[in-house]
Amino acid sequence: MAIFLNKMSKRETADLTMAMVNSGETIDLSEIEGIKVDKHSTGGVGDKTTLVLAPMVAACCVPVAKMSGRGLGHTGGTIDKLESIKGFSVEMTKKQFIDNVNRIKMAVGGQTADLAPADKKLYALRDVTATVDNVSLIASSIMSKKIAAGADAIVLDVKTGTGAFMKTLEDSFELAQEMVDIGTNVGRNTIAVISDMDQPLGYAVGNALEVKEAVETLKGNGPEDLLELCIVLGTQMLLLAGKAKTEEEARKMLTETITSGAAYEKFKEFVMAQGGDVSVIENLELLPKAQHIIEVKADREGYITRIIADQIGIAALILGAGRETKESPIDPAVGIIIKEKVGSYVKREML
Ligand code: URA
Repeated sequence: MAIFLNKMSKRETADLTMAMVNSGETIDLSEIEGIKVDKHSTGGVGDKTTLVLAPMVAACCVPVAKMSGRGLGHTGGTIDKLESIKGFSVEMTKKQFIDNVNRIKMAVGGQTADLAPADKKLYALRDVTATVDNVSLIASSIMSKKIAAGADAIVLDVKTGTGAFMKTLEDSFELAQEMVDIGTNVGRNTIAVISDMDQPLGYAVGNALEVKEAVETLKGNGPEDLLELCIVLGTQMLLLAGKAKTEEEARKMLTETITSGAAYEKFKEFVMAQGGDVSVIENLELLPKAQHIIEVKADREGYITRIIADQIGIAALILGAGRETKESPIDPAVGIIIKEKVGSYVKREML
């Protein structure tokens, strides 16, 4: 409460972060060859970035050793999305995780219970004392888990807008700066990108639907906003890993992973390495499918001026795509596909 009211200096914020890091296990990735760059998103609606970005970066021979989470509330989680592929699992020993990254350059694991346990306790306390909403506390909470996860460098995707934790650009900049300062202060090369979450990313929201859209993107048929975000984040990852010297060079390398099919092949390799059924990726019709489909038609003609992303996320959650509490079961088949984006002109359809 004292921090919430009085704020913290940069030094105090970095010290709190490291105290939380050192409260539990820290992951040693030194057996993985090369510079390990992690990516973290502050969470959004339809955010399937990791599914596309990780194979693109891995296809450029930069190791991606990713700890991901499950969804909670109106934002989805990477693990839930991947688990809609039959057989896919994040359960593996530390050795298997490291071997996979060395062999195919990517692995996605679940967060161990012992990663920054002090953060878990403090977060639960903040939750019930209305002290979550403080930039230094949010930044140190997120960064403690990233630093404990062992990457050499970190790229942060700070979302801004109706579907994001931070609703205004000003607040998003403040959070981004605070996290970059923490990372830099504790010797991890850290950069942040602020990206739009005023409408869902891509068109699909919901686990299996998002896997389908991610695979289409890897095959070169995905939504522009998703691909562009992956190229922007991937560019920073390649620069931090020392794989590219300029943004232009990095963009070219990443774009080629799509046009050559290398990123799609990498994704299949990764799915197979983690027990998933690759025939599902080759034939997306095999993904779980909703039994009922309801079309929601426009009742007016005109331009779409905004899509309130968190409401779409909440609607998907109520349908069963997300979790209200950590224990809630999810249904991988359900979700929402938005047909148009902000700026589109729609005609009234007969209801
Ligand atoms: N996410 C976190 O991990 N911690 C916070 O404090 C807020 C969002």
